[in-house]
Amino acid sequence: MAVNKGLGFEAYKEAYDRLGSARAVARELDVNPSTVLRCLRGGADRTPEPARDKLVDLGYEVTGKELTSQDAWDSHADSFERSLTIATKEHWSAIERPAGAYVVAHFTDPHVDDNSTPLRLLEADIRASHELNAIMCHGGDLLNNWPMAGKLAKQWAKQECTLPAAILRAQHYINLMEPDVWVDGNHEEMNGGAYLERLFGEWLDAASPKVIRDYWTARFVVRPEGGREVRFALSHKFQKGRSWFHPHHGVIREAMEGEDADVYMEGHLHISGIIYHTMAERQKNIVGVASAGYKMLDQYAARISRGGVIPKFKGRCHWIVCDDQAGDDEWPGVAFDSVRQAEAYLNGLQNLRAV
Ligand SMILES: [Fe+2]
Repeated sequence: MAVNKGLGFEAYKEAYDRLGSARAVARELDVNPSTVLRCLRGGADRTPEPARDKLVDLGYEVTGKELTSQDAWDSHADSFERSLTIATKEHWSAIERPAGAYVVAHFTDPHVDDNSTPLRLLEADIRASHELNAIMCHGGDLLNNWPMAGKLAKQWAKQECTLPAAILRAQHYINLMEPDVWVDGNHEEMNGGAYLERLFGEWLDAASPKVIRDYWTARFVVRPEGGREVRFALSHKFQKGRSWFHPHHGVIREAMEGEDADVYMEGHLHISGIIYHTMAERQKNIVGVASAGYKMLDQYAARISRGGVIPKFKGRCHWIVCDDQAGDDEWPGVAFDSVRQAEAYLNGLQNLRAV
């Protein structure tokens, strides 16, 4: 029987895009049709806050440290900063680099609690990226099922690890990765709210205190000393444009209608692709990457985006090599889905520019 529980706008929207009617969504997710309609009409603002107590009901033992009155007071500084940057639109965080070419590594959708995620491969990619001293980006969907994920997340997940083990894996990923830039995905959003934000905050503070973190899209500018600045937009999925059959639909629309980035990186659909596109109207060249993530045997992805049968490891992650001496009318970077090729190109640039 349908019950009146809220899963959140993203969950309903994703199901609606797939199924095409609110009634079908309600049937699949076992919720009241009026709840679905209300939430879809209300947009993303209607996402319900999950109750923290529900975690305790689930027998969940990992808890964050107690919030003190001083913490509550100090947290105002971050809220104020956020309000200010939203109000002034100056939300480009800066990453300073020494002179020279550099690499930006785009990881997304690791789903580290899924049976079909090859954790050893993920770990090797992270280590190889550190060896290149890459700027480490995480694009969301760290876990399939946070404790409150509900039916929608479970539908696309096959996993044997327990919830506490999943959480520990998530923390281990952050420790291995030491991310420089971090955004959440829909699997976090379906479990959103203050609890998860604080939990991530504590792990990230310990592993990577300078991390640039945003809820859905992070914008950052890399400033190599004496070289060209490049603007990056990292999103789990750019809001406009989604297509299983066109990996860069969202990127192109974001580049045309959104803010003025040079490089766009996204995940979510578990498809991979690289695009170089000249924006005649903006007199610039942009690079877009969609990374497929690490859930190799995903039934949806295997059927549609990975060509039908055999899981392909290509495009799980991308390495974008940027030439700090590139002119403004030249490409801001070159993207690779092979870390060895990225390294070779980086070495080539370093040798060339060192003369
Ligand atoms: Fe995902």
